[in-house]
Amino acid sequence: MNTKRNGHINGSHHHGNGNGAAPVLITGGAGFIGTNLAHRLLSSHTPVILYDNLSRPGVEQNLDWLRATHGNLVQFEPADVRDCETLRGAVQRASQVFHFAAQVAVTTSLDDPTEDFEINARGTLNMLEALRSLPNPPPLIFTSTNKVYGTMDDVKLRVRDGRYEPEDSIARENGFSEARHLHFHSPYGCSKGAAEQYVLDYSRTFGLRTTVFRMSCIYGLHQFGNEDQGWVAHFFDSRASERTHRDLRRWPAGARRFVCRRFGERVFTRAKKHRDALRTSIQHWRRSGEYD
Ligand SMILES: NC(=O)c1ccc[n+]([C@@H]2O[C@H](COP(=O)([O-])OP(=O)(O)OC[C@H]3O[C@@H](n4cnc5c(N)ncnc54)[C@H](O)[C@@H]3O)[C@@H](O)[C@H]2O)c1
Repeated sequence: MNTKRNGHINGSHHHGNGNGAAPVLITGGAGFIGTNLAHRLLSSHTPVILYDNLSRPGVEQNLDWLRATHGNLVQFEPADVRDCETLRGAVQRASQVFHFAAQVAVTTSLDDPTEDFEINARGTLNMLEALRSLPNPPPLIFTSTNKVYGTMDDVKLRVRDGRYEPEDSIARENGFSEARHLHFHSPYGCSKGAAEQYVLDYSRTFGLRTTVFRMSCIYGLHQFGNEDQGWVAHFFDSRASERTHRDLRRWPAGARRFVCRRFGERVFTRAKKHRDALRTSIQHWRRSGEYD
């Protein structure tokens, strides 16, 4: 994960729109990452506004689960980030903002680059303008993507213990530097890349307190993966069918090791050569509660 910081997200600076009980606004709050964050905040009795148009199939189940688990600490705003007026209303009530709502699939961005741009780039600009209109705007966290770095063909890899890793020890130990040059790839990469640059510049130019995370291939609980996005979850949901198993054997060694990240917790599992072994590891994983 790569982080770019401007301002002080966790500083003591207090926003001007309410008291300590003001809710945290999470756009895309019914989605995978939004639901995990909301659950964490709600578990410490922090109220949240989930701002989501429920366009991702399945995420209404996350909304139901959060409501059933946390009751009226959960506020739901069924709205689109392209709806400036409703967005502004939600931002005005917030103590902090996490902007996760997005068109998240590279494939869909290839089918309809305009809609991808409208949701990701324009939707983020709508958010920034809503914040800028406030006398004392709350801080903003934005989730960008590794697609802003392009193919990274220059990074030399080696295979060690069945997985690929960078040859360069600094990259191996610390990940990639923020100084790395940007190469937006795919319409999705361009719309998210444009959005993150606006987020950073609204800090520089207008003094908003913003942070950008550049993330890659996260998966875990509450994710409704499909072939277009969230494919690791989708793969395990398909329960190692014959076809999946056949496909898997053609994959390179590194691709057969998956790294699961669940907000600080890590589980490693290796998809084995034989279907039975793969089944066993999935059953074990399900029993351990890390995935269902
Ligand atoms: N999961 C990953 O591996 C990953 C990697 C890099 C970046 N990201 C970024 O993290 C963020 C969250 O990703 P996620 O994995 O939780 O995705 P997700 O699809 O589970 O969640 C996104 C949520 O946004 C909602 N949404 C989509 N368009 C909307 C719109 N126009 N208005 C309002 N709501 C809308 C969806 O209904 C969904 O609930 C996204 O911005 C994504 O680009 C995710």
